[in-house]
Order: sequence, then C-alpha cells, then structure tokens
Amino acid sequence: MQILVTGGTGYIGSHTVVELQNKGYEVVIVDNLSNSQIEVLDNIEKISGIRPAFEQFDLSERDLTDAFFQKYSGISAIIHFAAFKAVGESVSKSLEYYRNNLVSLMNLLEGMKKYKIPNMVFSSSCTVYGQPDVLPVTEETPRKEAESPYGNTKAICEDIMRDYCKSHEEDINCIALRYFNPIGAHETGLIGELPVGVPNNLVPFITQTAAGLRDELSIFGEDYDTPDGTAIRDYINVVDLAQAHVVAIDRMLTKKSKANYEYFNVGTGEGYSVMQLVKAFIEVTGVDLKYKVVERRAGDIEKIWADTSFGNAELGWKAQKSLEETLASAWKWEKKVRGL
Ligand code: UFG
Repeated sequence: MQILVTGGTGYIGSHTVVELQNKGYEVVIVDNLSNSQIEVLDNIEKISGIRPAFEQFDLSERDLTDAFFQKYSGISAIIHFAAFKAVGESVSKSLEYYRNNLVSLMNLLEGMKKYKIPNMVFSSSCTVYGQPDVLPVTEETPRKEAESPYGNTKAICEDIMRDYCKSHEEDINCIALRYFNPIGAHETGLIGELPVGVPNNLVPFITQTAAGLRDELSIFGEDYDTPDGTAIRDYINVVDLAQAHVVAIDRMLTKKSKANYEYFNVGTGEGYSVMQLVKAFIEVTGVDLKYKVVERRAGDIEKIWADTSFGNAELGWKAQKSLEETLASAWKWEKKVRGL
C-alpha cells in the first residue's frame, strides 16, 4: 500500500513517515522544503532502513500536482501535512497563508477524484475551538471564530473537506485530526522539530535556551485563571501523534469509518501549565534553565485540553508517552542538533 505524505520532511510528517514504514506501508513524500531540510530523508532511512520516495514541488501548483498523480498511480491514501503554520506570521501574510493552505488542499481533493484515491487524513488543530467555554473539549464542542488567519485556514479546510465529502459519498473519505500541542522527538534523536530562526513554540524555545542559544525563556503571563496563573495546554508526544495518523489510515483502508467525513481530537486528555512544563523539563534534564515571567502574548488562549474519549474509543488509539519521557526526547534531539 502506497501512502502519499505531503510535508513529509517536516516535524510531524517525518515522524509519521517512520511510523507508516514500521507498519509496512510504502511512502512517497511531497514537500517543497520551504520549512524543512532534504537531510531528513537520510535520518528517516537511518531509523526505518527504508528511504521513502521523494518529490520536491509546491502543491499549490495545480499542474505539478496533477503531473505527480499521473506519475504515481498506486497511491491508496494521502496524509496532508504540508501547510504554513506560524500563527504570528499568518497575520502579516494572510493572503499567502490562505493561498498556500487552501489551494493545496483543493488541488489534492481534485486529484483524489480524478485519480481515484479515496482516502485523506488532514492535519487540523485544536485552534478551531478558540477558547472553549467548557473544558475539556469534545468533538461536539462548537468551533469558534479563529484568532488568526492560520487558524482560519484550518477551519476553512475542514469545511472544504466536509462539503466535498457530502457530495462525494461514494468516492471520497476524509478524516481531520485536531492536534493539541505536539512536542518531543523520535527516541533515536535522529528526527525532531527544527524551527527556522527564533522559535515561537514553547518546547523548542526551552531546549534552545537550555542549549545556550537563547539567554532565557520568557513565560508569557502568570495572571491567567489557572492554578499557578500560567496558561494550560495539552502536550502530546509527536510519536504518539504520528501513530494516530497510521490508525486513521488503517481505519479508512479497512472501511471502518462511520461517515465519509470524520474528525477527532488528538491529545492526551491532560492539561499542563507553562510553569509545570518548565519545572518538569528542569527536573528531567537537570539543566538549570533561566526563565522570567513577562506580559501575556497577544492572541494566546488561557487554557485548553482535550477530552479524548471519543477518539480513543473510535480509533482504538491512546497517547502512551509521559510528559517526562517526551521532554527528555526533545532535549536529546536538541543536544544532537547542536553537537552537545
Ligand atoms: N509560551 C511561553 N513562552 C514562549 C513560548 C510559548 O510562555 O517562549 C507559552 C504560550 O504563551 C502558551 C504555551 O507556552 O501558553 C504554548 O505555546 P506554543 O506557542 O508552544 O503553542 P500554542 O498553544 O500557542 O500554539 C499551538 C500551535 C499552533 C496551534 C495552537 C492551537 O503552535 O499551531 O497550538 O491552540 F494553532
């Protein structure tokens, strides 16, 4: 079975490629390398023993996408990661975000129909819930207006899939996975998250500070309505998350989907505050991490974590890895990247 993984050299994509290969799937990656490095292929090969096929082009180019599908005629399913994902940048570059994220999805859906590839798993985000009124969030929790153009692209992509599935009951099957906060790296330390420039996300900022690249971590706000005043998220290990994609692919290929458009929360069900995470990192690694508390970051929500019971029951999947081992894996990766 051949699976197309778009964005397969990226952070979550590369881990998913490895998990697919471990389950015997053959993978072809499409990535334009706008936010990843070609060397990731070598490291995927080191872990799994198999080098995935690779094509470098931009999926928002309709003709190139069509030509790709003509060349690869044996694809059974697509996992679509390729997208711009920086929340802050999406505010100043909204048109680029809408064009890239929406058009590439539409080109893929068009190709699925034309080339008879029925199945797609899509990277969505808990950002579609905004700040929920009731926690934890279930799949029934109403979506809220997105805080950023990036978040809006996720909501609109979900709507595009839902509507397209409605009119293609026979030949199109999509699953959107709403990720909470993916962190950590592969246990080998060979693949992980490699942000370009100053990291926006918490864990890469922590590991870079620990590695001496940044002077100190800024904790954004300690006046939230949470037990210690810092914001709460549901941090999920990236390998656990990658495995959820394999399970979603299995579900579609074995025709277990209950509808041709489904969506699931993919988190751990546990919320941790920024301060708890920082303290856990210090405890696990023994590194003396410098941090200070500063103002809240604009656009941040106060707290969110998943109710995973529906996804766990339907998919037969549950996050396995502890926060501690996940933070240790992130640190192992950072040290390897920096040669420490
Ligand atoms: N934080 C800090 N200091 C930092 C970086 C982050 O205190 O240097 C805090 C944030 O304020 C937030 C928490 O750490 O409270 C997590 O922040 P991240 O940037 O790691 O993650 P977000 O929850 O803001 O965003 C993530 C993804 C988005 C996605 C969103 C959905 O990066 O793609 O979850 O809620 F849209």
